[in-house]
Amino acid sequence: MLSYQHSYHAGNHADVLKHVILGDVVAGMFNKDKPLFMLDAFASRGIYDLNSDEALKNREFDTGVGKLWALRHQQHPAGIKRWFELIASENSDGSFIRFPGSTALLHSMARAGDRLVACDLHPQEFDALRLSFQASRRFSLLKRDAFEALKGLLPAKEKRGIVFLDPSYELKGEYRQIAKAVAAAYHRFATGVYVIWYPLLPAQRHLDLFNELKRSGIRKILRVELDCAESFPDMQMYGSGMLIINPPWHAHQPMKLSLEWIHKTVTDGKGIKQFDWLVPE
Ligand SMILES: C[S@@+](CC[C@H](N)C(=O)[O-])C[C@H]1O[C@@H](n2cnc3c(N)ncnc32)[C@H](O)[C@@H]1O
Repeated sequence: MLSYQHSYHAGNHADVLKHVILGDVVAGMFNKDKPLFMLDAFASRGIYDLNSDEALKNREFDTGVGKLWALRHQQHPAGIKRWFELIASENSDGSFIRFPGSTALLHSMARAGDRLVACDLHPQEFDALRLSFQASRRFSLLKRDAFEALKGLLPAKEKRGIVFLDPSYELKGEYRQIAKAVAAAYHRFATGVYVIWYPLLPAQRHLDLFNELKRSGIRKILRVELDCAESFPDMQMYGSGMLIINPPWHAHQPMKLSLEWIHKTVTDGKGIKQFDWLVPE
């Protein structure tokens, strides 16, 4: 279908949670020197223009990065500091226009021996992605179906890997489809870290994702979630969360601190936060 374009939503409350927590997970995997495989299966364009017609249409970034940018010079938990620094590096002329997405985040964090692959099927998004990152030799950019990529690229030869799954959930069946694809990938690459983003919407379809994953038999699934309904009552997407399979131990405390900070600043302490096991060890 592919009508979804992330530029309309870039920088909103969900992107804050998504990118900060993803950064914490990746940092938590750096405690060993061994090379890492990183797959951004639903990459989109990598960098978003907050001055574009799409971003300005509903100004969703005002619920996220637009609200927080003024706080960037304060003291922050490590994950928040990393995120602010990445945005600042994309806007080195002092402006506040370029908003880095998941691909830019992974690209900025990757070490010399790490290998990155980013996929997107949308022609416009993929062209923009290629324009931003084609110069990077360690990066494979693929106009490839994410579900196909999961089948073809896993298990990773590095034996250590992180798979980020951030679908647009345009079809209601996608919640189950993601869970099934992850279960199949896990079967072949059980040591991988899988990070799955999901929205909180009135239809509550994220519960399909939860139930299907619970049924899969996979253990060690952490939930990091923030319900922002009270802060943004007019938004259909009233919150979001991340499910993390095999979360690195070193990431637990940083993620907790990041979530607390986002709860305090994005929702002014009015949100409902969850940091618990969907399925324990
Ligand atoms: C929510 S956006 C990704 C945002 C991005 N991860 C970020 O944080 O900056 C989802 C993207 O997935 C792409 N997409 C949807 N279905 C896909 C598929 N089956 N394979 C690859 N890409 C797909 C869409 O074109 C869209 O750009």
